Amino acid sequence: MSAIELHARPSKDYARKLDETQKLLVRAASAYSPLTQASSLGAEDVVITHLINSLELDIPVFVLETGMLHPQTLDLLERLKASSRAPVKVYRPVQESVVQFVKREGNEPMYRSIELRKACCHIRKVEPLQRALEGQRAWITGLRREQSAARAEVPLIDESEQRIKFNPLADWTWGDVWHYIAQNRVDYHPLHDEFYPSIGCAPCTRAISLGEDFRAGRWWWEDEAAKECGLHVKNQE
Ligand code: ADX
Ligand code: SF4
Repeated sequence: MSAIELHARPSKDYARKLDETQKLLVRAASAYSPLTQASSLGAEDVVITHLINSLELDIPVFVLETGMLHPQTLDLLERLKASSRAPVKVYRPVQESVVQFVKREGNEPMYRSIELRKACCHIRKVEPLQRALEGQRAWITGLRREQSAARAEVPLIDESEQRIKFNPLADWTWGDVWHYIAQNRVDYHPLHDEFYPSIGCAPCTRAISLGEDFRAGRWWWEDEAAKECGLHVKNQE
C-alpha cells in the first residue's frame, strides 16, 4: 500500500488550513524578503516547495546535503532541481572537517555516543545551515506540531529568535500533508511508501512499525529528549 493510500485523509478544516498557509507564504514572500525554504525533501517539505512554485513566489529553496543521504533522496533532489521554478541550492559540509572527523572517529561514530552523534550533525548539518541562512531575514521549515512532544507548541510564525522562522504547516495533520500530495500529484520520496514517515541521513533513519511514534525511526538508539539534530534547537549556537 502506498503512503497516499495509507494516509491521505484531510481533516475537516483542511480547506481553511490550506488557505491560511497560502496567505502566510504570500505575506512572508512580500514582507520578509530575503527568505528561503529549508527542505529535507520529506513529505512536508515537498508540499511547501510545491506551494511556493504554484504561487510563483520569490522564495529559493535549499537542501543540506550531508553526504549521508539515501540515494533516493539524491534522486529526488535531482528531479526537484530540474522541475522547480524556484531555485534549489545545495549546501555541503566543509570537506576538510568531514575527512578529519571520519579519520579520527571512523565511519559510524554516531552509534557510540550522543556527543559524537551531535559532532557529526554539527559538521554535516548545523555549520552548513549557518552558511545557508547567512544574509537571510527569515526561513521556512516543515515542522508540524503533531510530529513529536517537543514540537507540540510549534507556532506558525516563530519570532523568538533573531531570524524569523515560518512553519506554515504547523497545524497540518499527516493526513492533510498526504491529501495535498495526492490532489496535486506532488513527486515525493519513495521511502515514504516503505514506512519511513521522517527521513534524514541514511545511518540515522529507519522504517517504523505499526503503532510506533512518528519520529521513532530517527536516532532510534537514543532517548526521546535527545532526538533533535541541532537545526531546530533553541539558543545552542
Ligand atoms: S531534524 O531536525 O530531525 O533533522 P526533520 O527531519 O524533522 O528535522 O525536519 C524538520 C525540518 O527541518 C524540515 O521540514 C526542513 O525544513 C528542515 N530540514 C531537515 N533536514 C534538512 C536538510 N537536510 N536540508 C534542509 N532542511 C532540512
Ligand atoms: Fe551524522 Fe546522523 Fe547527524 Fe546525519 S543525522 S549528520 S549521519 S549523526
